[in-house]
Amino acid sequence: MLSKRLQGKVAIVTGTGSGIGQGCALMFARHGARVMGCDINADAAQATLDQARREELALDSVYPCDLTSPADVERLMLCTAERYGGFDVLVNAAAFGAFQFIEQLDYERDWKRTLSGELDVVFLGCKAAWPYFKRRGGGSIVNFASANAHVAHPVAGALAHCAGKGGVLAMTRQLACEGGPHNIRANSISPAMIVTGATRPELEKPGYTEAILDKLMIKRLGQPEDIAWFATYLVSDEASWVTGADFRIDGGATAW
Ligand SMILES: NC(=O)c1ccc[n+]([C@@H]2O[C@H](COP(=O)([O-])OP(=O)(O)OC[C@H]3O[C@@H](n4cnc5c(N)ncnc54)[C@H](O)[C@@H]3O)[C@@H](O)[C@H]2O)c1
Repeated sequence: MLSKRLQGKVAIVTGTGSGIGQGCALMFARHGARVMGCDINADAAQATLDQARREELALDSVYPCDLTSPADVERLMLCTAERYGGFDVLVNAAAFGAFQFIEQLDYERDWKRTLSGELDVVFLGCKAAWPYFKRRGGGSIVNFASANAHVAHPVAGALAHCAGKGGVLAMTRQLACEGGPHNIRANSISPAMIVTGATRPELEKPGYTEAILDKLMIKRLGQPEDIAWFATYLVSDEASWVTGADFRIDGGATAW
């Protein structure tokens, strides 16, 4: 255990089988939270559970859980509430995005799947968690926008992803506005390139990593922990007056 910063908190983190979701779930548990993870990929979710068990962390998981299915999302909330008596935090890290330039971007296979995989999963999670937060007297939502919601990049074929993440950015402000009277906070994090299961194949393309590094003020790629440290602050009581905000955790990528 690193600290007791999140002691007493119950956190749902989605997409715990990989990358940022995994990093946040483990980090929260290392700071004293009890965490319920989930993933559509059962093996990946189980591998994260195994890691948590090795560290004797309070992490559990619902899997396979498809967050584009309203019934699966309801099940995740119910399991968590039954197990822990409620929850304080929802981190919507799971997402699917297709990375293609416009000429290769297929309407059904890429565009529609990306909007569902990036927007529906956030909407459904927030909607299902909302009544639980109201009963609890408040809650903290962390959504993931992206550097791609703020700036264009010549090497990243990210048109559908830009649309999805621009949507998450705007949705989060409105969630914060609607949540304020109920003490429900909502913020987004906009990461630049973080090394995860989603980005490793892109990073292996010739010249890609160099082009990404060129845009960074700090000349290294991000790691899930770079994001998880900030998410730990956002879901803690230290951030009780922080809502409706977007935080660019991006090595300076969007600050030029
Ligand atoms: N990695 C980056 O560089 C980067 C940059 C900006 C924003 N983001 C955002 O951060 C979040 C995490 O990204 P990541 O790179 O860690 O992704 P990742 O692909 O490494 O991990 C996402 C996890 O979510 C799961 N998942 C996907 N769709 C799901 C669904 N419908 N139901 C349940 N589980 C599902 C996947 O199986 C996977 O384990 C995403 O919202 C992503 O868009 C990432």
